[in-house]
Amino acid sequence: MKVDLGPQLDRLMAAQERCDRLRDATLRSKPRDLCDLAYANAYGGPPPFVIDAIKESLAGDRQLDFQYTPYGGATLSRRRISESLSRQQGLRFPWRNIVLTPGAMAALNIVFRAVAALDSRAEVIVLTPGWLDYPLYLVNLGLRPVLVPLHPVTMRLDLNAIADAITPQTRAIVISQPANPTGLIYSAAELRDLAALLTERGDDRIVLVSDECHRDILFDDARFVPTAPHYPATVVVYSFGKALFIQGQRIGYVAVSPQFPQADAFVTSLERLCRVMGFCTPTALMQLAVRKLLDRPLDFSHIATRRQLILDALADAAIVTQPSQATFFLYPKTPQGDDFEFAERLAKHGLLVLPAPVFHHSGHFRLSLTAPDDQIERAAGILRQVASGSAV
Ligand SMILES: Cc1ncc(COP(=O)(O)O)c(C=O)c1O
Repeated sequence: MKVDLGPQLDRLMAAQERCDRLRDATLRSKPRDLCDLAYANAYGGPPPFVIDAIKESLAGDRQLDFQYTPYGGATLSRRRISESLSRQQGLRFPWRNIVLTPGAMAALNIVFRAVAALDSRAEVIVLTPGWLDYPLYLVNLGLRPVLVPLHPVTMRLDLNAIADAITPQTRAIVISQPANPTGLIYSAAELRDLAALLTERGDDRIVLVSDECHRDILFDDARFVPTAPHYPATVVVYSFGKALFIQGQRIGYVAVSPQFPQADAFVTSLERLCRVMGFCTPTALMQLAVRKLLDRPLDFSHIATRRQLILDALADAAIVTQPSQATFFLYPKTPQGDDFEFAERLAKHGLLVLPAPVFHHSGHFRLSLTAPDDQIERAAGILRQVASGSAV
């Protein structure tokens, strides 16, 4: 029985599904030569202290620790996260404002569903290039995604384009900070200007969703800039999956700004939506484990080394790219022709990348630096060869 998800979802998923077919074909034709720089699968697994924290949590002797936890999550975990987040953001988040979810995907869904409850015909601004699934969730919930391009040259917030997209139906805007796929961090000045625009045009009705999944992965002297201090109606979305390399363990949260209008009522709605939408809470085990994993020093020097290796290869190949400040990603310009054709040419040599249409954009491709070192080294060689035309 074929279930029809509707033409809009089909269209939005087409690019990614085409990449999945390319991936399957490449896996079959080049199983040994694969360089998988498409998705952010951490081949090296999590660092040992993460595994230790999960093991220690499992070894606990309190029987109730593995039973249902309340919607919103176990109070102690919410408290610990709120303390850590408050220090990081320079804003005091009450523990109840942290609603634990099975990863950022569920967090985004309950937030968007709450927006739909505010206005069932709401429009939500999504910046492009942007994380592939935001528009899917919005369409699925009956909301209207309004795709607004980032500045075409700088890939930073384009305030004029955002201003033009705001209508009386606009109820939310979602940004990723730092941005996936560009790897850029929006500056305090950009966020201040965005907040001023939303305040001026929104009459307090526009929710700013700040997806901060990649905020820990920083390069050189880049510093993360939190969004919430700039705009009261902010909700922060976070996943522990990225920085700790435990994407499959599904734990994250929504944090509602303490300055959010009627924050308590909004938090209660999010807790209720964890039930209504069936996302429930993350596993009890991971709720225990993250308490031990907050504020640990994290080492991304191996990712930084890989980033430099690829940046050097791109420079040699005369492929234009803006160096990332954060995230696992680089987002160079497609050097010649169509994005998919270029991705297919790379795939012939075993190199998998994601072309810009996956991010509702064009003219670029994304490389993920989570592949193991040997694959990164081979990928650097393939990029040099293919761009120079010495390989077709
Ligand atoms: C910007 C962004 N938001 C959300 C997600 C989803 O995160 P999770 O897998 O923790 O649900 C991802 C995953 O790639 C992402 O890159």
